[in-house]
Amino acid sequence: MAKYFKTVMTHFSRYLPPGRVTNNDLSKLMDTNDAWITERSGIKERRFVEEPIATSDLAIEAVKKVLAESNLKPADFDYIIASTLSPDYYFPGIAPIVQHKLGFPTIPAIDIRVQCSAFVYSTQLADAMLKSGQYKRILLVFSDVQSKLLDLTTNGRNVAVLFGDGAAAVICEAKECTQEEIPQASNQSSGVIDTILGSDGVGAEMLLLRTPGTATRGFLSPETYENGDWHPKMDGRVVFKHAVNRMCEVAETLMARNKISANDIACLIPHQANLRISEMVREKMNLSQDKVFNNIHKYGNTTSATIPICINEALEEGRIKKGDLVLTVAFGAGFTWGGSLIRL
Ligand code: ACO
Repeated sequence: MAKYFKTVMTHFSRYLPPGRVTNNDLSKLMDTNDAWITERSGIKERRFVEEPIATSDLAIEAVKKVLAESNLKPADFDYIIASTLSPDYYFPGIAPIVQHKLGFPTIPAIDIRVQCSAFVYSTQLADAMLKSGQYKRILLVFSDVQSKLLDLTTNGRNVAVLFGDGAAAVICEAKECTQEEIPQASNQSSGVIDTILGSDGVGAEMLLLRTPGTATRGFLSPETYENGDWHPKMDGRVVFKHAVNRMCEVAETLMARNKISANDIACLIPHQANLRISEMVREKMNLSQDKVFNNIHKYGNTTSATIPICINEALEEGRIKKGDLVLTVAFGAGFTWGGSLIRL
């Protein structure tokens, strides 16, 4: 009989650093206020790391939690996929640092750079690798420390108020199954059902951290440092419009090609960029508020980690449970975007 593999996401974890930064705290650093931030983004507070914590340190905390939760050891894994836009070093990435510091065997460890679309891109990659039968268990790691990059003055206020630091980890396992058990929206088999990814570099300059980089004369110069080119810059209105359009587009395509309606979905988990973006996607999909999970008010936009942090928290709060059909949609710098349909 033919042998098939499906990808099951067995465990999720999250780690948020303890340092709470409220909107009022930010208003002491720049010309902003709680009313503006709450109305435009839904954010009330976020977490910032303290020195000398780096991105891999947050990742390691999230991985320790997922290992404890699953009772698995580093030796049980055969691949690490990490996602971040704020690595400890320009190179190498954080995946080999996590591998070494937590005593994983010398397994492959890569970083992918798709910013806020990390969860959907990692899911698609891990799913292809596990379904092929080449790997058995992949660790996904998501971690970002944006607080050290932000311009925490009035000049950078349109970006600085949106982001927080955070990390998450997910265990993906290959499970052998029959043809009938390949996950589909129409059966009850748990696993990754479908993913859609996209990109358009037309948006590269609309949301970027320009330097250090080889497009900069001298890679990193006193001038670019003085200009503040080492802070993320964003055309917020353009990003907003593209984010809503692409997130709605992937949700509609995933529903159409899997022959489901919004009613069949237990929960929509949008990338936590901005509550207004999530609300617009929800309204376009005609979903009630209880069918969408948001936690941006507590953590801000944690970049690569928002969706797995949400799934972990939604499971813990009983908002979703094993066996539920979950739709995730994401949009990020690049531009990159995507969605995934998963039965937990
Ligand atoms: N506090 C107070 N005033 C501010 C702040 C702030 N933090 N930031 C900007 N302003 C001012 C501006 O200077 C401007 O003042 P002016 O009218 O006197 O010139 C006014 O507020 C309006 O500014 P806009 O940028 O036009 O405000 P907008 O309504 O577009 O909201 C925002 C800005 C919240 C950034 C919005 O564009 C947005 O959410 N964009 C999406 C971006 C996003 O989510 N990016 C995350 C990364 S990508 C991703 O995750 C999808």
